[in-house]
Amino acid sequence: MIPVTKPYLPSREKLDRYIDGIYERAWLTNNGPLIKELTQRLEAYLGVENLLLVGNGTLALQIAYRALNISGGGPSEAITTPFTYVATASSLKWEGVEPVFVDIHPDTWCLDPANIESAITPITKAIVPVHVFGNACDVEAIDIVAQRHGLKVIYDGAHAFGVTYKGNSLLSHGDATTLSFHATKLFHSIEGGAIIFKRKEDLERARRMTNFGLASPEEITDIGINAKMSEFQAAMGLCVLDEIDENLKGREKVWHTYEAAFKDKVKLQHRNHSASYNYAYFPMMLKDQEELLSTLEYLRSKNISARRYFYPSLDGISYGRAAGSSVSRDIASRIICLPIFHGLSENDQKLITTSVVEIAASDLGEGVL
Ligand SMILES: Cc1ncc(COP(=O)(O)O)c(C=O)c1O
Repeated sequence: MIPVTKPYLPSREKLDRYIDGIYERAWLTNNGPLIKELTQRLEAYLGVENLLLVGNGTLALQIAYRALNISGGGPSEAITTPFTYVATASSLKWEGVEPVFVDIHPDTWCLDPANIESAITPITKAIVPVHVFGNACDVEAIDIVAQRHGLKVIYDGAHAFGVTYKGNSLLSHGDATTLSFHATKLFHSIEGGAIIFKRKEDLERARRMTNFGLASPEEITDIGINAKMSEFQAAMGLCVLDEIDENLKGREKVWHTYEAAFKDKVKLQHRNHSASYNYAYFPMMLKDQEELLSTLEYLRSKNISARRYFYPSLDGISYGRAAGSSVSRDIASRIICLPIFHGLSENDQKLITTSVVEIAASDLGEGVL
């Protein structure tokens, strides 16, 4: 079976050298030298400041809400998108913040800024948009609404590693942007994540929160948990970062192969033209759910594992409040992602493109493309 995604495995020899160093120092976690090195190298690579490494992308969201006082006080709501991975919303609910789902734009599939204002209530504290599939949100329009209503903005940038906007990092927008470094992501540290803060004082507060609220071994200044990344994870991250250009090049090639094969035949996400793209996903939209299911089945019969992202639309889950979601529901019922990862062989790419074109031409998939 061709998987929809595959973790990038960097040079084993290099990883072994980092692990030898960890053994020599016997320093396995708690802000060791590899965490410091990875922090500096990621800040330089991404062109950002105030980056804090954490245990995963879900903790990154939770810590960001806490550090920015979205959670941990009285009742509160945050406006977010129903078209995302469930962690964006579950992390809010877990932190006692009611997610309010506002509809997405039919072309960009990101939170539509025009829908935000009508969903704001006296207890709204934040907007939590997602750069879905790495497509940059309309950060300027979101900023205007947030400033008008005194709301914090926390971008879930789990898919947006390395994306730039108007020549600078997209990840510097908002009060904070979170990243996921899960094994299947473009850049990964097996499990891991990061928060990029606008302000240094928020970074410092968040740092204490990731370490039980300790300001020093004998000084407890905040409510904290354990959200630290370990030296082993940082070692993997450093090795993956060393090879990121090669990884990106491989994905970009696959992406363009698909685009050339399906261009003018399949509806793709409208990309933000002021932003770069990281080729992390190849989502495509089918005519309806029925054709989505027959396409998935046909691809499976050819040993191709395509997958639905992000289904179901989150406004249908058991928590949170829906404030308009018809576009999200429609789109969530029609999108599949095709396999895309560094090392996907040319033969497999060919099988995928011919299979998708085949089903489009067959009775089974009439009207798919
Ligand atoms: C949009 C989004 N947010 C958050 C997360 C959670 O990240 P993690 O798996 O690192 O906890 C993911 C994970 O895939 C995601 O896609």
